[in-house]
Amino acid sequence: MDNIYLRNIVRKRLSEKRFNHSLRVVETALKMAEDLEADKEKVYTASLLHDYAKNMSPEELLSIARRNQLISSWVEERQPGLLHGPVAAYLCKKEHGIEDEEILRAIRFHTTGCENMTTLDKIVYLADVIEPGRTYEGVNELRDICKHDINKGLLFAFDRTIGYVIKRRMLIHPFTIEARNWIITGIERGGML
Ligand SMILES: [Fe+2]
Ligand SMILES: [Fe+2]
Repeated sequence: MDNIYLRNIVRKRLSEKRFNHSLRVVETALKMAEDLEADKEKVYTASLLHDYAKNMSPEELLSIARRNQLISSWVEERQPGLLHGPVAAYLCKKEHGIEDEEILRAIRFHTTGCENMTTLDKIVYLADVIEPGRTYEGVNELRDICKHDINKGLLFAFDRTIGYVIKRRMLIHPFTIEARNWIITGIERGGML
């Protein structure tokens, strides 16, 4: 799939602001890919497409997810915004013939994380939260950690997300808990994966 085609399908789907975010995620992800020796082509495609469904309404997300068995937890029924990852992966495959399972899962899990994340999953997840447009408290610390250790960065990001969700009395997605447990046990075993 050529890069201009991919950029155009994302541009058509997203607001300008979200499109620009996606481009910054691509840039950040490609930089991470260099250090981690990840497949740049896959990193490019997954990071560019990660928010493909982000402009959809909660109703739309829910209806596509219900019709196509994309729901993994009842938490998604209550907070349909969480479905923009799974719905994006579904639409990219269906509408644009993206078949690569590694790319599709990185898109699918970019909001919640999951157990057994691949390097590509981790890059997309983290690039999304540390791209240069992000300004929340602690983002510089997280950028720094990611430069040295992507797994510690992931743990920091999960802790922050879960803390944020708790403060706002929102529901925690079970995948995020599983992802955090998985990364912690890996870090404790000394050197993750
Ligand atoms: Fe997203
Ligand atoms: Fe994003």
